[in-house]
Order: sequence, then structure tokens, then C-alpha cells
Amino acid sequence: MRTLYWSLVLSLLLLVDDAAATREKKAAAPGGKPWMDTGGLSRGVFPAGFTFGTAASAYQVEGMALKDGRGPSIWDTFVRRPGEIANNATADVTVDEYHRYKEDVDIMKKMNFDAYRFSISWSRIFPEGAGRVNWKGVDYYNRLIDYMLQQGITPYANLYHYDLPDALEKKYYGLLSKRVVDDFANYADFCFKTFGDRVKNWMTFNEPRVVAALGYDDGKFAPGRCTNCSAGNSATEPYIVAHNLILSHASAAKRYREKYQAKQKGRIGILLDFAGYEPLTDSQDDKDATQRARDFHLGWFLHPIIYGEYPKSMQAIVQDRLPKFTEEEIKMVKGSIDYVGINEYSGYYIFDPHSPKPTKPISYQMDWNTGFAYARNGVPIGPRANSWWLYIVPWGMYNAVTYVKEHYGNPVIILSENGMDDPGNVTLQQGLHDTTRINYYKSYMTELKRAIDDGANVIGYFAWSLLDNFEWKSGYTSRFGLVYVDFKTLRRYPKMSAYWFKNVLQRGKKN
Ligand SMILES: *[C@@H]1O[C@H](CO)[C@@H](O)[C@H](O)[C@H]1NC(C)=O
Ligand SMILES: *[C@@H]1O[C@H](CO)[C@@H](O)[C@H](O)[C@H]1NC(C)=O
Ligand SMILES: *[C@@H]1O[C@H](CO)[C@@H](O)[C@H](O)[C@H]1NC(C)=O
Repeated sequence: MRTLYWSLVLSLLLLVDDAAATREKKAAAPGGKPWMDTGGLSRGVFPAGFTFGTAASAYQVEGMALKDGRGPSIWDTFVRRPGEIANNATADVTVDEYHRYKEDVDIMKKMNFDAYRFSISWSRIFPEGAGRVNWKGVDYYNRLIDYMLQQGITPYANLYHYDLPDALEKKYYGLLSKRVVDDFANYADFCFKTFGDRVKNWMTFNEPRVVAALGYDDGKFAPGRCTNCSAGNSATEPYIVAHNLILSHASAAKRYREKYQAKQKGRIGILLDFAGYEPLTDSQDDKDATQRARDFHLGWFLHPIIYGEYPKSMQAIVQDRLPKFTEEEIKMVKGSIDYVGINEYSGYYIFDPHSPKPTKPISYQMDWNTGFAYARNGVPIGPRANSWWLYIVPWGMYNAVTYVKEHYGNPVIILSENGMDDPGNVTLQQGLHDTTRINYYKSYMTELKRAIDDGANVIGYFAWSLLDNFEWKSGYTSRFGLVYVDFKTLRRYPKMSAYWFKNVLQRGKKN
């Protein structure tokens, strides 16, 4: 069904594109290619010094998962459970950036990007999570960073993207244990010391909410724990894990600030996923439900980091299942970022489902007590991309960024992920002709610019992702890349969207 739908969409797009080509012969697009139209976007319409990049994560692109001394992460274990990942795929090889990083950095440069947000694989540096260093892994990141700098691509290094060393899961149940806080801080410290002479932009965790919710509430991500899984408790474990993630983040940020920041002159932050949320109706109940959605989604992490406590709505609902920070911890957590990364893809209407109050707590997601709607008065919120959760809703960008600005003291924001996926099995030709993706980026970046014009303090934008790659649960059945990858030969083919970015990001051009 999905594929039929997409081939219809794609052929319609081709028709629409051709019709538009005839109509817009005189459009400003270069070379008579209407799809190249920037929609008025250029470097010049963003603030001076604004950074444009692409983002990816170690496990999704590196490959060499079990080689050159890397220890397994919880994802290496998870993907080996039959039936967990689409087509039982693994990321043992994925797109082999470990060997092809030069080619990938060259593509970034060619498409006029300024920066690459990559992640460091903890178990490639410390195969057992702590103690012994795998110097081959250290060498890989040195090669990658040095080549980026040589090509004029600024490194933005993230220390954790879902990939806890499996040794720590086995040793003390990983993120469920407070022992992870020191081990993470020590790993982070090693990275600051080793790479911080060249890396000036650090991030501790990517989407800690997804780590806690998908790993411990519905069990769809590693380590796959939940009430109805072979082990876990969806009502309590997500909150314990989130608490330990916040403390791990803060502890690493403290190390950076105390030992390295003055000398290295870099910045440190965290990457949080968020979405545009609007009440489905004007009713107070739907407005309250929308606030709960924002608190449980973003506030869970950003509220402690900015204000030193969990959102009041969460405290009232989760009660004693919500761990407490000590006075000392509050001092460490509050203010522990120089910037916040926001990953934004979609938007939703929220309503109060008026469900009866459960007699006992069930799960983090049930605690939200909200319903998601994908249409209002019969009008769809937007077309859906390949992923079930990804509706194309440009206003979600303005809505999410403006919410952060207004409720968290207008912090420095990096829009750290944004993008959409096609099905994995589109042909090369279909994959390259990605006008839907171009329109996605054009409309979302326009909404981001509007938020900036209205005062949001955004300093950078990162498209997800440069390459099609291993998309977690979906394996290789989802393509988010600006560059098509033939997963058999690993050849890279820039899509039309890559050339669109190249055009938008030309330097020294007024527009
Ligand atoms: C995944 O592996 C399991 C166990 O070997 C098998 O039963 C299942 O059919 C596999 N799924 C696919 C899509 O290959
Ligand atoms: C576990 O499964 C039962 C039975 O299907 C269901 O009622 C319950 O809501 C599930 N619990 C969670 C936390 O998903
Ligand atoms: C493409 O993948 C979908 C599942 O994602 C499947 O239903 C469909 O049959 C596949 N189509 C082709 C042409 O392989």
C-alpha cells in the first residue's frame, strides 16, 4: 500500500513538476530547473554567522560495528533479537562511513555545508564502557575531525546517540543505575581532553526522551524494556532513566566547564526532540492537554536544565514515581547548557481523551493523558512521509521554536535535526527525484526564518541526514538522506535536494 501510494505521489510530482516547468520557464531558478527555486532562502536572509550542516549518528553510518576493537553497544545486542528490526537488518556495515568519511565530507563541502554534527561511539573509545581505551577508535575520530577541518567543515560532536556500551548494561543495568553518571562523565572528559583542541561544539546526549521512552516504556528501542516485555516497568523505569541521563549530562558539562572550557573556548549543550503542538479545539481541556504534551515531551529535560525542577504538571501527575534532585544536583543541573539543540520534524493536534483515571500507574505515555489527531474538521494536518509519525507540518517548526523561546528564556538554539523519509525500496531514479523533500526543506526553513525574525535566538540548522542510512527499528526501509545510497554497492548519489541545498547555500550571493 505504502509503495503504491508513493509511486502515485511520485508520478504526480513528476507531472506537477513538468507542468510547473512550463509555467515557470522564467523563474529565477538556475539552468531552467524550477525545482532549484530557493523560495527566497539564502545565507543572506539568516543572521550573520549562521551555520548550516547535516547531522548523523555513529551507529547509523559508521559500520565496523564489531571491528577495529569497538565493543558492542546495546544496539548491537538489540538488532540481533529476531524480529526486532525490519528485515532483521543490522548496522554492522551500514553505509561504511568508517572507511568512506573522506568521500562524505567531500560531498558536504561540495553542497556548500559549513558543519557536520556527528556522534562519537562510546564503546569504540571504551569497549567496556570504562577503563581500557581502544586507540584504534580514537584514531578514527582524529582522522575524521582532521579531515573535516582540512576541508573547512566544522565538527559538532555529540557524545551519545542511543548507543550505551553493552558492557555497562550487563554490569549494572546501564542507564537504570546511577553508576552510569560517573562513567559517562569520565568518557566525556576523555573526549574533551583528546579532541577538544579541535572540537569547539559539544553535545552530551541526543534525544534523551527517546532513549527513556522507547527504551523503557514501549520497548521499541534498545535495551527493549517495558512492562509487557521480558523485563521492565513502563510506569517507573522511564523516569529513573531520564533522571540519570540528566545527571550524566550535567556531570559532563560540569567537567567541561571546570577543566576545559576556559582554555579550549568551546560550548556544550544537549539535543532534545520536540514537535509543533496545537490544541485540537479551543476548549480549555484541549489547551491543558497540549501543555501536558509539551511538558512531558520537552519540559521533562529542559525544565530541570533551565529552572532546576521537573515541570509542575509532571510533578502533579507522576508524583513519587518522579525521582528528586538533591540541592547539590540542582546546582549542577540548572544552567548546564550553553545552547540547546532542538530536533524538529512534525506537528500534531492534541486533545484531552477524557479517559477514566487508571486505578494504578501504567506508563509514561499514559501519564501524558493526551490524544493525538492528524486532522481538524476533516482537513488533514499534512501529508505523511514514510515514517508513521512524520506528518509534513511546516508550522510545527515555528510553533516548536517559538515555544522554546517564550517558555525557556530565549536560549541559544541550534535547530539540530530536520528532514523527511522516503520508503527504503524506491528505485534510484525515484529516490533522486525528491521534490517532496525539497518542498519540505523549503517550507520548514521558511518557518524557521520566520521564528528567527520574530526573535528566536537560533544560530544553526542541521538537515537530517546527508546519507540514507540505518534507521533504527526501520532498518533500511526508510531513506532520510540528501544523498541516495545503494545499500548493495554503498555508492553515493546526491539527490535533487542535495543540489537544492548547494544552490541555497552559495556563498557571497545576495539571493
Ligand atoms: C527474522 O528472523 C526470524 C528468526 O530467524 C525469522 O523467523 C523471520 O522470518 C526473519 N524476518 C525476516 C523479515 O527475514
Ligand atoms: C500490557 O498488556 C496489557 C494486555 O494487553 C495491557 O492492558 C496493558 O496496557 C499493557 N501495559 C503497558 C504498559 O503497555
Ligand atoms: C516496498 O516495501 C514495502 C514495505 O515497506 C512493501 O510492502 C512493498 O512490497 C515493497 N515494494 C517493492 C517494489 O519491493
